[in-house]
Amino acid sequence: MTEPLRVAIAGLGTVGAGVIRLIETNGELIARRAGRPIEIVAVSARDRSRDRGIDLSRYHWVDDTAALVTTGEADVVVELIGGSDGPALTLARSALAAGKGFVTANKAMIAHHGLELAEAAEAKGVALKFEAAVAGGIPVIKGLRDGAAANAIAHVYGILNGTCNFILSKMEAEGRDFAEVLAEAQALGFAEADPSFDIDGVDAAHKLSILASLAFGTAPAFGDVRISGIRHVLAADIAEAAALGYRVRLVGVAEADAHGLFQRVHAHLVPQDHPLAHVTGATNAVVAEGNFVGRLLFQGAGAGEGPTASAVVADLIDIARGEFGPAYAMPAGALAASGAADSGERRGRAYLRFAVADRVGVLAEIAAAMRDAGVSIESLIQRGASADGSVLVAIVTHEGPERCVAAALERLRGSQSLTGEPMWMHILD
Ligand SMILES: NC(=O)c1ccc[n+]([C@@H]2O[C@H](COP(=O)([O-])OP(=O)(O)OC[C@H]3O[C@@H](n4cnc5c(N)ncnc54)[C@H](OP(=O)(O)O)[C@@H]3O)[C@@H](O)[C@H]2O)c1
Repeated sequence: MTEPLRVAIAGLGTVGAGVIRLIETNGELIARRAGRPIEIVAVSARDRSRDRGIDLSRYHWVDDTAALVTTGEADVVVELIGGSDGPALTLARSALAAGKGFVTANKAMIAHHGLELAEAAEAKGVALKFEAAVAGGIPVIKGLRDGAAANAIAHVYGILNGTCNFILSKMEAEGRDFAEVLAEAQALGFAEADPSFDIDGVDAAHKLSILASLAFGTAPAFGDVRISGIRHVLAADIAEAAALGYRVRLVGVAEADAHGLFQRVHAHLVPQDHPLAHVTGATNAVVAEGNFVGRLLFQGAGAGEGPTASAVVADLIDIARGEFGPAYAMPAGALAASGAADSGERRGRAYLRFAVADRVGVLAEIAAAMRDAGVSIESLIQRGASADGSVLVAIVTHEGPERCVAAALERLRGSQSLTGEPMWMHILD
């Protein structure tokens, strides 16, 4: 058999240890598929003494991750440390500058620095690959970059954060509130001790911005993603959504048209007969619609040791075969600089929920604000007083420009009738 692909791995946590286990378990099969073996020539993490459930004595250990580039004989550096900057970015820059291929699962770094790294990889004619950075084990990057490469993509959207989906599905199944379910998700290991990147939508936004570049051929624009998470979703919202024929999901949506690139991550109402409504637990799913292929649905495990390692090693197999092209499916210089589209001009239906004081005239005040802003109400549900004496009012609007909904909420800002911040969720029609 020909020369092995020599690989150095930085970071031996959940994903790094998984990559080693996968290569050790399936090495022979991988060698047959790749046409050459994948050989781990060096590894690095913070704490050499930590038990990772794998025998590291057979691999060359380096204390300083930077040394994976300078002293090793690696063809490819695999970065599984995490973090948008810091040691991961330093390693990426030095590996690519040294002409090594680079594979990562790090969505935060790719979302912030992907273009720079793609340019560096192209300058040296080496691979930059990040399949595991979006939707874990699901080969959605390969699907868009290669399988759907012949299509103009109209939009790409999906459930990109397993933690949020786990929490929302559990709230839905058990009728419980967010804080309680989050605490349980943390105890079960489905949510981090600091869950903010997940529950506030940032992690999904990292992934969405990567998908948007691949789908539309636009330069990465993470800063243009409009982001909100699921902290403010109530069990009552989920119940009202169900009564109206919807489920609540955190959905990342990206579309590109003449107005520019539109990217958002928000809790949405998804019709119960839509494929995304049936994605439960920690699963991820991505929908892409191409002008010749039609609707594609990618679904599977969005995280976890095995699925994520599977995606990392798939990238290594591509490199071993010599099958890699530009990171974003076209040379970095060909990516269009697409401005952010004005969300106010977008049309859609909205779910609005208000907590209001239990007194006469409140509904009329809300209805007047809607009317004055040009928002037409399709349905309105009012539920009895809760423990704090406030009443929940849920409204579904007819389709209209989002700027009108924003204007209606602005009119109600500071109203003495509202006992809390209104909730606005878009409806995925
Ligand atoms: N976990 C998943 O399911 C998943 C899914 C998709 C993508 N990802 C991405 O994959 C990457 C790794 O995630 P993970 O879950 O495997 O993280 P993790 O379990 O926390 O592991 C991180 C590893 O990096 C090492 N490390 C941290 N700081 C370091 C430094 N300064 N120098 C050298 N090594 C350092 C740690 O060393 P010690 O072990 O010695 O402390 C640890 O081995 C992240 O970018 C993450 O976003 C993860």
